[in-house]
Amino acid sequence: MQDKKIAIIFGTRPEIIKLTPVIRECQKRNLPFFCIHTGQHYSFEMDAIFFDELSLPVPDYKLEIGTQLTAGHGEQVGLMLAQIEKILIKEKPFVVVVQGDTNTVLAGALSATKIPTPVYDQRIRVAHVEAGLRSYDRQMPEETNRVLVDHISDFLFAPTENKKKILLGEGIAEDKIFVVGNTIVDMVLQSSIVAKEKSNVLEKFNLKENSYILLTLHRQENVDSKETLLNIIEGVYRFAEQRNLPVVFPIHPRTEKMLHTFDILLPRIIQTVTPTGYLDFISLEINACLIMTDSGGLQEEACILQVPCVTLRNSTERPETIAVGANSIAGTNSDSILQNAHKMIGKNRDWENPFGDGKTAERIINTIIKNYEN
Ligand code: UD1
Ligand code: UDP
Repeated sequence: MQDKKIAIIFGTRPEIIKLTPVIRECQKRNLPFFCIHTGQHYSFEMDAIFFDELSLPVPDYKLEIGTQLTAGHGEQVGLMLAQIEKILIKEKPFVVVVQGDTNTVLAGALSATKIPTPVYDQRIRVAHVEAGLRSYDRQMPEETNRVLVDHISDFLFAPTENKKKILLGEGIAEDKIFVVGNTIVDMVLQSSIVAKEKSNVLEKFNLKENSYILLTLHRQENVDSKETLLNIIEGVYRFAEQRNLPVVFPIHPRTEKMLHTFDILLPRIIQTVTPTGYLDFISLEINACLIMTDSGGLQEEACILQVPCVTLRNSTERPETIAVGANSIAGTNSDSILQNAHKMIGKNRDWENPFGDGKTAERIINTIIKNYEN
């Protein structure tokens, strides 16, 4: 039997953030673990900034698979597979832990399942954190990644009962599914008090509490289309003008590049800033009167932090946020964005958080350890 090492694989901003509680749990219990960073995100503000401020260990393996916009998804996943495989063959972990739906997640999970072992028992297990999410929109590259990774995983850590139902409906065995909540709750609880004490981001960006809109945009299907991007900007702009509210827009590098490529100039009321660290970002969320976004993580954080959210997409894999009244799907049409924003900004902020109690990482590690014996 291989030893009980846990391999934690990540590569993008949301994975670094959402796996932080799992890494902290491994450290707390002194478990043997190692980290592989694929380098899918590589700019300082998408990567290194989090390691510094969240006191994360330097990754044991740092691959350099950041992409140019011209590189295809296949090339990116292929390069990751080739390099991760070598590391896993050398390290022989008991389990590979991946989180979410990025190309890094697909490559990490697939590498583990492809490694030949003489006996079934020595197979490297795959643990998928945030299993069972579905947008049912195959235009999103993430949807394919989610489905594939769920179907090759041994431990499916579903955030809610609803996700478990989806997985059961796809024929996944019940004994592989564990409803544990979402590690983002652990992260928000661990960070928001510190953020309130330490962050001076409002002063830095000249913003007043509850008097600005926080905007993020980065989905490929939104920002790589000039028409869609322009429609979204128009919707946000019209709302901001009508309410006389400034918009702060920490801009994802993909979106920055596409604005440049399409030669789009933003109106003055939308203030772009470089992406911020986690504590500053949490503080921007807590103090916003409305969040407008196409991000998955922001829909959850807005819901947990009791800030109304307008989702700039046609679908969501987080319908729990809609069900509790924290979020609204506006699509990408300017009129619909305007209507949804007016509707959400006046919401009573009294909904329940559907994503758990902040002990998700503890449950994940408990489950993995319990299965060492099996
Ligand atoms: C990726 C994930 C997406 C996730 C997002 C989080 C996939 C298919 N997509 O999208 O699910 O929501 O991360 O932010 O895995 N770039 C930089 N610096 C960086 C990172 C990216 O300049 O640190 C630029 C590069 O031009 C790159 C482009 O952004 O080509 C897109 O990056 P990529 O990692 O391919 O996809 P994301 O849009 O970031
Ligand atoms: N985030 C951050 N700084 C920023 C923008 C976002 O720290 O400038 C954090 C945010 O709090 C959330 C995560 O990044 O936890 C969301 O990442 P992203 O929107 O890139 O990806 P998604 O969640 O859509 O996969």
